Amino acid sequence: MLFASEHPLVHHKVALLRHVDTEPKKFRELVRELSMLLCYEATRDLVLVDQQVPTPMGTAAGHRLGTKIGLIPILRAGLGMVEGVLEMIPTAEVWHIGLYRDERTLHPVEYYNRLPTPNRVQLSIVLDPMLATGGTAVASVDILKRWGCERIKYIGLIAAPEGIAQLSQAHPDVPIHVAAVDERLNDIGYIVPGLGDAGDRQFGTN
Ligand code: URA
Repeated sequence: MLFASEHPLVHHKVALLRHVDTEPKKFRELVRELSMLLCYEATRDLVLVDQQVPTPMGTAAGHRLGTKIGLIPILRAGLGMVEGVLEMIPTAEVWHIGLYRDERTLHPVEYYNRLPTPNRVQLSIVLDPMLATGGTAVASVDILKRWGCERIKYIGLIAAPEGIAQLSQAHPDVPIHVAAVDERLNDIGYIVPGLGDAGDRQFGTN
């Protein structure tokens, strides 16, 4: 299921993010802010546990999160999304997966995975800004399912229709939350109009 944000703040920030003149410092700030806003939208169905809260004036009926959450940033472009989501969910664990796209085949290659055994989270949130061909997203959800994760969500910033189709077909149980859906992929697997290489733009490596 695709959830493309309709929030005006998200639309405003994603336009700034795309701009060719947005320098890495501003780009990282926007990635962090957009990740917070998308996290807020993506977590509206989280289960709560009732709790009594002592206040200076008495006792209030309150709630706390009832789900152990793991954030799974995909190295390296997903790194910049962690901070914003952790600000919203400070109790989340962060586990990294390293996948790169083979530039010739465009297929994902796993180079880092230190997920603990047994799996200790109830909801995994994959963080990867660009849902392009969908190969990396599908591979990361495959890894998480093999790890024993039954509940997985994907949060990205910009998606191509090809990536959405690929991830939805392979893993229809994984909701996809993004800030924008773009026109298409170009012949080297970049999203058009997109924003270029999300890793390079965050880390100033282009
Ligand atoms: N990865 C990126 O960083 N940008 C794209 O457009 C596609 C994949």
